[in-house]
Amino acid sequence: MITLKSKTAIAKMAHAGAQLAEMLDAVKEHLKVGADTLSIDRWIGQEIQRRGLVSLMKGYKGYQHVSCISVNDVIVHGVPSTTTILKDGDLVKIDVCASYNGYAADLARPYFIGQANPQAQRMVDCARRALEAGVRASKVGNRVSDISVAIQEVVEKDGFGIVRIFAGHGIGKRMHEDPEILNYGKPGKGAVLQPGMTFALEPMITMGGEDVVIDNDKWTARTQDGSWAAHIEDTVAVTAHGPQVLTR
Ligand code: MF3
Ligand code: CO
Repeated sequence: MITLKSKTAIAKMAHAGAQLAEMLDAVKEHLKVGADTLSIDRWIGQEIQRRGLVSLMKGYKGYQHVSCISVNDVIVHGVPSTTTILKDGDLVKIDVCASYNGYAADLARPYFIGQANPQAQRMVDCARRALEAGVRASKVGNRVSDISVAIQEVVEKDGFGIVRIFAGHGIGKRMHEDPEILNYGKPGKGAVLQPGMTFALEPMITMGGEDVVIDNDKWTARTQDGSWAAHIEDTVAVTAHGPQVLTR
């Protein structure tokens, strides 16, 4: 069931989203060669608290951290650790989800440590454009899968792989609500979009194949072929005046 959010609920999500976006800009200060991802997660935890937000990741299905920090071939759900140490050229994706007064925002940003590999940079640019296309398709009258198709077209045009086992999702009081929003599909399927629907859109793409392996920690999701992956996510509200991104 897709729940429609009131203007007040969307305002709370936008507050959470703005705070998290600011935080994921400020985190750049801490993304340096030699930094370990657990210390970055700790800083994010302090910031979430300082900003009056509540993490929806910590405790989710036993997850112990407030962020997922995914490096290079790790697509999503990278578990922060003292043994994951950032190196020059790394592609780091940080994903956070937290609520303000009970309403959540979910977002992820990609970062390069030092010099970016040109092909990895192209992939990140492609993921950004795919997300933008998804946002533009999040308008009244479209159906859920029209968002999926918009994302898929951008990624396939550039020849990157689309990870199929994870997807975007509805969001509100909970991190994951209906509908599921695949990053590929056929047009005109699923619910008709209405004002008050709120979605987390999150293309996950790779420089190689689309197959995924999960580490023994049961979280860390890597490309099977070791190719690098990009992930970027924003939370968007469908409104009568068009899509409203809540996480910038
Ligand atoms: N925030 C992620 C998403 O975009 C989910 C993270 S799963 C967690 O759906 F357990 F690590 F929180
Ligand atoms: Co999400």
